[in-house]
This record gives sequence, C-alpha cells and structure tokens, in this order.
Amino acid sequence: MKTPNSKVIFLTGGTRGIGANLTKTLTSEGHTVINTSRSLPNTQNPTKKQKKSPTTIKMDVTDHQSIKHAFQFIDDNFKPIDVLINCAGIGHFKTIEKTTLSEWNEMISVNLTGAFICSKLAFARMKKNGGGRIINIGSISDTQPIKENGGYAASKMGLRALSGILTEEGKSENIFSTHISLGAVWSDIWKEREGFQKEDMLDPDEVVSLIYQIIQKPLTMRIDHLEIFPKKGLL
Ligand SMILES: NC(=O)c1ccc[n+]([C@@H]2O[C@H](COP(=O)([O-])OP(=O)(O)OC[C@H]3O[C@@H](n4cnc5c(N)ncnc54)[C@H](OP(=O)(O)O)[C@@H]3O)[C@@H](O)[C@H]2O)c1
Repeated sequence: MKTPNSKVIFLTGGTRGIGANLTKTLTSEGHTVINTSRSLPNTQNPTKKQKKSPTTIKMDVTDHQSIKHAFQFIDDNFKPIDVLINCAGIGHFKTIEKTTLSEWNEMISVNLTGAFICSKLAFARMKKNGGGRIINIGSISDTQPIKENGGYAASKMGLRALSGILTEEGKSENIFSTHISLGAVWSDIWKEREGFQKEDMLDPDEVVSLIYQIIQKPLTMRIDHLEIFPKKGLL
C-alpha cells in the first residue's frame, strides 16, 4: 500500500540478513523498495516491468555494468530514488598475515567501490530531483581497531570517509548521507565464526527500526553518523 510519505528506496543486498529485515519493514510501511540479489535465476538485465514492492533485481556491486543496468531499470519503471541504502557487504575475518590479496580486494570492491558507484549514480538523480538520503551501513570496526578485521575495517573506514564527503558535496542540494557504524548484529555474516552467541548481539529488527526513523526524517535534518553497540560493546 502506498502512503502519502511513500518513498522510492533502493537497497543493495536485501534478500538476506539485515537487508532482508529492512526490505520487510520498509515495504510493510508502504515504501517502494527495490532490492538486489546476485543469485536470481533470471537474466542478468532486469527487463520485466514489476510494480509491486519489493522488486528484486539481479545486481552484483562488483560489476559496474550490472549497477548501471539496475539504475536504468529503476529510471524506466519507478519515480526517482529518494533513498539509497548501501547495505551489501562481505567480510573475510582473518589476521592481516592470513588475509589473501584476493580477499582484501573483494572486501574493498564490495564494501567500498560498490557503494561509491551506487552513491555516484544515486547522487546525480537526487540532485535532479531536489534531494535525498544515502545511508551507508558501516561497522564499529571503522572507529575501533579489532583484530582479524583488517580488510573489512579498511573498507568500512573508506566507506565512512565517503559518507562524510557525500554530505559535504551534497548539502547544498539537500543530499545527506548517514553512516551507521554497527556493532554485532545477528545475521549470516556470523555463521562461520565460532564462539559468538546470538544473545550477545543486536537484534536486526531493532537496527532496522532505527534506520526506518532516519528515512522518515525530513531533509531539513542531517544525521551524519551513528554508532550502535550491543550491550556488551565490542564482542
Ligand atoms: N551482521 C553484523 O554483525 C554487521 C555488523 C556491522 C556491519 N554489518 C554490515 O551490514 C551489512 C549487511 O550485513 P549482514 O550481516 O546482513 O550480512 P549477510 O547476511 O551476509 O548479507 C550480506 C548481503 O550483502 C549482499 N552482497 C554481498 N556481496 C555482494 C555483491 N558483490 N553484490 C551485491 N550484493 C552483495 C548479499 O547479497 P546476495 O544475496 O546477492 O549474496 C546480502 O544481501 C553489510 O554491509 C555488513 O558489513 C553487519
């Protein structure tokens, strides 16, 4: 159902983990959500007009062409994007000594370069449309050095820098970025890591309700950076 304040929200990722929770909440609140997955069985390029929310399109943030096609699909089928949420992310949690170059490059490519390309394409559209918000899902490792988080932290620190600069360059156009440095949230990202308990982590629904509030705020308000921890702090 479309509400008077309904927004067009493009969310990278969104069929798993925190993104899936976001999709569910934002859709149920009447927003038009376009999310992405790399593993759809259909063609690489979305061609079918899908109006119902959520619309999931095939996109890989490491593939520039696939991002361009996704934006074109949104231009052709929806009103201009009001909100971009860069949520797609991966982590290889190892010491620097054990991290391979390809793992390092993958983290930078997904967590930072992918967000850069999506932000750049969204920024141009928001500028034309009178403004918007870009929400970047960072990590508390972008403010705290945590062992076995080298490549992940570097990518998320880069993302944090990108967030600040997007606001500096966008504020005169009513474009604001929010960087959310998240502590541990129970999701697939923890599946293969031993010794961590769901009970010690943030509930994804609680995190999503906070992001929802940011989206609801008028563009007279900047929300530059949030740090969110579970009650134990760093795990
Ligand atoms: N969970 C935590 O404790 C935590 C803490 C701090 C920050 N974060 C951040 O929160 C975000 C979501 O994480 P999560 O915990 O929900 O992880 P998750 O359950 O592993 O989900 C990762 C998401 O990223 C997408 N993705 C990965 N590589 C991609 C690529 N190359 N192109 C497009 N999409 C890609 C996945 O899409 P596919 O379905 O296509 O694979 C999936 O939707 C990430 O940015 C993560 O760094 C998480």
